[in-house]
Amino acid sequence: MKDEISRELARARVYEAEHEALVPAADRPVFHFSPRVGWLNDPNGLSYCDGLYHLFYQYHPYSTQWGPMHWGHAVSRDLISWRYLPAALAPDHAYDQSGCFSGSACVTDDGSHLLIYTGCGDSSGDPTGKGRWLQTQNVAIRKSGEEEYIKYEGNPVITADDLPERGDPYEFRDPYLWRAEDGSYRCLVANGRTSDELGTQLTVYASPDGLCWGGGKVLFEDKRKIGVMWECPNFFPLGDRYILLASPMDMQAEEEEAVGSIRFPKGNNVCYIPGDYDAGTEEFTPDADESGKYLYAPVDRGLDFYAPQVMKTPDGRRVMVGWMQDPKTAAHCKKTGQRIFGQMTVPRELSLRNGTLYQWPVRELEAYRQEPVRYRCTLRDEWERIPGISGRSADLLIRIRAQKNCKEVVVRLAADSENGTEIRFHPHLCTLMIDRSDPGQEADMTATRKIRVRDCGREIDLRILIDKWSAEVFINGGEQVMSATFYTDPAAQDIAFRSEGSALIDITKYMITDRQGR
Ligand code: FRU
Repeated sequence: MKDEISRELARARVYEAEHEALVPAADRPVFHFSPRVGWLNDPNGLSYCDGLYHLFYQYHPYSTQWGPMHWGHAVSRDLISWRYLPAALAPDHAYDQSGCFSGSACVTDDGSHLLIYTGCGDSSGDPTGKGRWLQTQNVAIRKSGEEEYIKYEGNPVITADDLPERGDPYEFRDPYLWRAEDGSYRCLVANGRTSDELGTQLTVYASPDGLCWGGGKVLFEDKRKIGVMWECPNFFPLGDRYILLASPMDMQAEEEEAVGSIRFPKGNNVCYIPGDYDAGTEEFTPDADESGKYLYAPVDRGLDFYAPQVMKTPDGRRVMVGWMQDPKTAAHCKKTGQRIFGQMTVPRELSLRNGTLYQWPVRELEAYRQEPVRYRCTLRDEWERIPGISGRSADLLIRIRAQKNCKEVVVRLAADSENGTEIRFHPHLCTLMIDRSDPGQEADMTATRKIRVRDCGREIDLRILIDKWSAEVFINGGEQVMSATFYTDPAAQDIAFRSEGSALIDITKYMITDRQGR
């Protein structure tokens, strides 16, 4: 192992330290994680070590575009307030010269923090001529009490030689790490295959020490060929079941019964598959329909959510953080002159109820609530603005009880006379829609999404986290979630309500204050 940091990492650290100061505080979300400088995509290495939560992230410090991937790094005591640490990894070896792609982390028996990530090497060998990079899995370790993550001298630790038959070494990434019951290590790696006829496979590797890996057993094969490549797999127990959760790229659209309601939009999505895992044989049996096809369901039903990672907290919760951005529209979302781009969702606690994945903001967020305002009224065809209910950094709890004559209830956020992102509930159709098509939005971005919600007899519960340029909408206690970004001028501060027909509405609004620990 080497002790000194590379020129590439040193350069990134000097750059981020100098440029962080140039990012105006007003350009950051208040309680959502944003990059120290430059570009952010997937959450990586989400873990708890030495009394702190660690969040690493796919990071290109030098611009607000995706570029050669580094790992940014931050720590937190409560999953909400993050303190930046120096970038942890930079592309500086032959095996990761084109980028340090996504990966995960765990703690070893001697208290070291072990990272495993995908190194992108060179592209000269890609038989398709598409210039794809050779992908291998690599380890970096920070010994307890030390600061640096040192790349293991035996890297790469999992290579093309470890692939099952017809595994494509140019689509081989995003290792998800966990400790098995006997203390040995496992990681699950996404792998495309050399023929388009074959779907993605997710392959498990095993190691006694996190360094020396073997195996290469296929845990799951995408026989239904959903999407072209499943990125960022996660695999974890939840209650008495197991969950496989991954991000398939380029899916075909799937509709639901309700008119215009989308189960999966065309493009990149995140899905989960509940099932059973036999720790003895290490076989995963996904829940299946009568014809034996595995069941899969969407994780977040909104417009911006991808590549989430799930960790276990010291008190046993499974907590998920996602990249709150649709990768396909990321290029459109730039405001001129900005020095940061990208943000994470609020960490969400997961639970499984009757086979459905529920998500709820971690309870630590509640400590940031200030100035509660409660209001109850009957909406009748007029826009209602309520004293004390406004702002661009809020936790809003809303219960809507639509009367028989009610066709629609609208909650309008980040609004002024021209702008506004709307959440529309149609009680008779049991649909909820998010519409961000205000003038602040780029014309060629998908602006609306409609989903079917459970029929609760004309009632719906919403919890909306609004934070400058985003809203996360938790529906009926977290049974469904819709996340969306929007780029409306922060001066648009109104929150307004309206119904067509009458509806009773109970609102509790908290302001969320900035207690960022940086
Ligand atoms: C998902 C992803 C991962 C990859 C990383 C590269 O967004 O494409 O598969 O490791 O981003 O930044």
